[in-house]
Amino acid sequence: MPVTTAINYDDLRRMAKRRVPRIAFDFLEGGVDDEVGLTRNDDAFRKQTLMPHYMVDAAVPKLATELFGQTFAAPYGIAPTGGAALFRRGADLMLARAAQAANVPFIISGAATATMEDVAAVARDVSWYQLYLAKNRDISRDMVARADACGFSTLVLSVDVPGKVQRERNLRNGFSRPMRPTVSAKLEALMHPGWLVEYFLGTGMSASNWEKYAPKGATPDDVLDFLSSQFPTPSTWDDVAWIRKQWPRKFVIKGVLNPDDVARCVAMGVDGVMLSNHGGRQLDRAPSPLEVLPVVRDRFGEKIVVMFDSGIKRGSDIVTALSLGAQFCFVGRWTLFGVTAGADAGASHALGMIRTEVSSVMTQIGAPDVAALGSKFLMWGDGDLQRNARN
Ligand SMILES: Cc1cc2nc3c(=O)[nH]c(=O)nc-3n(C[C@H](O)[C@H](O)[C@H](O)COP(=O)(O)O)c2cc1C
Repeated sequence: MPVTTAINYDDLRRMAKRRVPRIAFDFLEGGVDDEVGLTRNDDAFRKQTLMPHYMVDAAVPKLATELFGQTFAAPYGIAPTGGAALFRRGADLMLARAAQAANVPFIISGAATATMEDVAAVARDVSWYQLYLAKNRDISRDMVARADACGFSTLVLSVDVPGKVQRERNLRNGFSRPMRPTVSAKLEALMHPGWLVEYFLGTGMSASNWEKYAPKGATPDDVLDFLSSQFPTPSTWDDVAWIRKQWPRKFVIKGVLNPDDVARCVAMGVDGVMLSNHGGRQLDRAPSPLEVLPVVRDRFGEKIVVMFDSGIKRGSDIVTALSLGAQFCFVGRWTLFGVTAGADAGASHALGMIRTEVSSVMTQIGAPDVAALGSKFLMWGDGDLQRNARN
């Protein structure tokens, strides 16, 4: 079935699930521990109600949004996702090209298969680099210099992977370093011959940005082992100061949830924070970023750019996050499902789908412009309609 027949997130998810073996799909979709974080992210959105304002002409809402001095076509972009080549050979570049064509930001993961130089060649205008610190900080220094040489506008430091976690679906499937698929995972993979051929004819999953630092002659698999020897390692405030000094353009910290951490980011001259719980993949009992967004926006919205990701599955989720005070949103799995299901066309279709949904919801609530979104479009959870007058 062509990927363009997918109507929504769930359709893309189903198509992606059919295409790849369970061992890959579980890595894509899964959370951590009991996976209550995934539900919490969903519930946080479901608790919100959008309040329509009729008799306003918002038939063709304007989605163009300025972020860090650059005008993007929409208030959302693609979050960094490592290991995407496991789902679709060449996925990183497919996502980058789709983002460039749609004029929305694309964040290349520090654990991507494509190199940052490859991404710069196809999507320099819209791409940001996401850094995972290495234990050997000389490697990180070099990566920052490479990102600078690539001309990326923004560097993102992800801080919410201070150590290894138990993703139990992965443990059950034998998805680990080194990879030890269980017999049942291997047998199940045989039901996906298209994926198997593509995977074994391609480079499989690697972390090409790290190749330069691995021992000479390292195979893609050796590079992954090298990455595992260097990462995860906790980022500290000293690292934040150190990177701030090296990086000349916009600097974003991804994965903060605690307002005190945001306060410190402001004090250290960080340009933006991305409130995120890593899509429920790191700390199962973490808050949903939607729960902390209003307080962060109230306290720091004038001092730092506040962005959001985790759990977005509908255009109305994006409109809700923007109305609660996020300046920009990012999606991880939505576009990953798209590219997994339908390669280049799937990545573009996912972005088009998001645009259609966001536009439609803005028309319905009477928001002619992204800049118009705010608390007046929400009915507060306590049912106090007076609070809609806040904005
Ligand atoms: C398969 C996968 C790989 C990811 N890899 C990274 C990564 O390399 N770096 C990072 O900062 N976040 C990573 N994330 C988290 C995303 O950037 C993002 O925070 C999350 O997917 C947002 O939630 P959503 O998938 O519900 O939209 C990954 C997420 C997924 C699903």
